[in-house]
Amino acid sequence: MTEGSGPTAFSHSLWSQEIRFYRAPPHAHVTITLVKTFYIETFGCQMNAHDSEKVIGTLIAEGYHQVPTPDEAELVFYNTCSIRDKAEQKVFHRLDQFKAQFKSGNLAGKKFAVLGCVAQQEGEKIFDKAPHVSMVCGSASYTKLPQMLVQLEAGNRRVTGLSLDTDLTFDTPLTRRDNPHRAYITIIEGCDKACAYCVVPFTRGPERSRTSASLMAEARQLADMGYTEIQLLGQNVNSYRDPSPAAWDFAQALDQVGRVPGIRRVRFTTSHPRDFKKSIVDAIDANPALCDHVHLPVQSGSTRILDAMQRLYTREEYLQRIAWMKAAQRPIAITTDIIVGFPGETEADLAATLDLLTTVGYDAIFSFKYSRRPNTAALQLDDQISEDEKSRRLQIVQEHQRQLQIRQNAAYLDTVHECMVEGFNKATGQWMGRTSQHKTLNFIYAGADDLTGQYVHARVTRSGPNSLAGERVQ
Ligand code: 5AD
Ligand code: SF4
Repeated sequence: MTEGSGPTAFSHSLWSQEIRFYRAPPHAHVTITLVKTFYIETFGCQMNAHDSEKVIGTLIAEGYHQVPTPDEAELVFYNTCSIRDKAEQKVFHRLDQFKAQFKSGNLAGKKFAVLGCVAQQEGEKIFDKAPHVSMVCGSASYTKLPQMLVQLEAGNRRVTGLSLDTDLTFDTPLTRRDNPHRAYITIIEGCDKACAYCVVPFTRGPERSRTSASLMAEARQLADMGYTEIQLLGQNVNSYRDPSPAAWDFAQALDQVGRVPGIRRVRFTTSHPRDFKKSIVDAIDANPALCDHVHLPVQSGSTRILDAMQRLYTREEYLQRIAWMKAAQRPIAITTDIIVGFPGETEADLAATLDLLTTVGYDAIFSFKYSRRPNTAALQLDDQISEDEKSRRLQIVQEHQRQLQIRQNAAYLDTVHECMVEGFNKATGQWMGRTSQHKTLNFIYAGADDLTGQYVHARVTRSGPNSLAGERVQ
């Protein structure tokens, strides 16, 4: 799970909705009304992927039909991410590609809409740089999508949803879900922190929490629909605060979702160490439905760099949170995010990060080269580090972690784990299982039945740096 930088593309496999057409009574002329079609492409984090699920649900409710290629679509949506790299350039490049197809006639009569973080960041500039785009909408404006679609259909060539001034969450019952077993629930949107490197407060706006009643209603509905795993989402789930008089904090919300009948696993992402309270660990200890996994991004092992990043905690305060988890009854797996090459990072700071990786013994990390983002405080900092040097540091961090994971995963040999089965890999002949600790455990099973979505037990017989392998046990 150690990753380099760069967002991932998600393709949605939700083509089950039939094209509807209305047949006239016998003897009349047959008229066929084709439903308006749309295609959506999504980049970025899980929040973005889930936003797209909600956008898809909204579009379908508005009478649109999702198609698998831009060629077949009248409306092409591009949900973008601006967290790292040259995200803006990549977006314009992709928009150009769409246009190239358009010129060849394939995409004649189509409309293009840019959604998400690059839409919010670049705003109306997108219309100038990519004149074939006629709608630009950031995530804080998705609640206004139906009205914006009306404008688009009316021929408006510059439809915008760019206000961040909202206390609304995109709380829609119309979500079209991508995974039949694991469902996502956004509990808080936006971010009130001001990490010096991060663009999210500018692209997703201030924090807004959902009411506990609405998130519990969604959790119960998901259980009724047959989902057994729920993942709670937010840029910072720990600062969830129920706006209704019940005033639940995050630990209460987590615990209550884990008590919904039928829900066997609850995960959450992502957490900020400053707001990570011991009550969260206590909730995990007390409630078997809460998974043995916490993702707690540290970014750096050096207090000096954490300070420059405006992360609001020291290395020692972070390690205090780790100590709570290590003292738990449950074997809580811990994962993190690391940024290398933040301005001013020295060899000693890098060594502090490597030392932290060893001290914590993370189960996995996501590591990135620092990337300069528009509007962020770190843009002004001196002592920017060269790309080559950042690459060197990234490699050192990743190799260090790889060695740790090889050793740590070997300790799982001969242990038995409950796995949620995510599917079958024909190439390897193995079932793909996911443990409560969020580890991949691929296992063999001689039976002919389809295990997808089931919970089965598997014994670990082999381990590697990134996964475990084994066999099903009864
Ligand atoms: N450069 C590099 N990595 C970043 N992240 C966020 N902003 C940047 C940036 N400007 C990483 C952080 C965060 C994760 C989602 O992406 O590690 O936790
Ligand atoms: Fe990318 Fe962050 Fe926006 Fe997610 S919230 S799409 S990671 S910039």
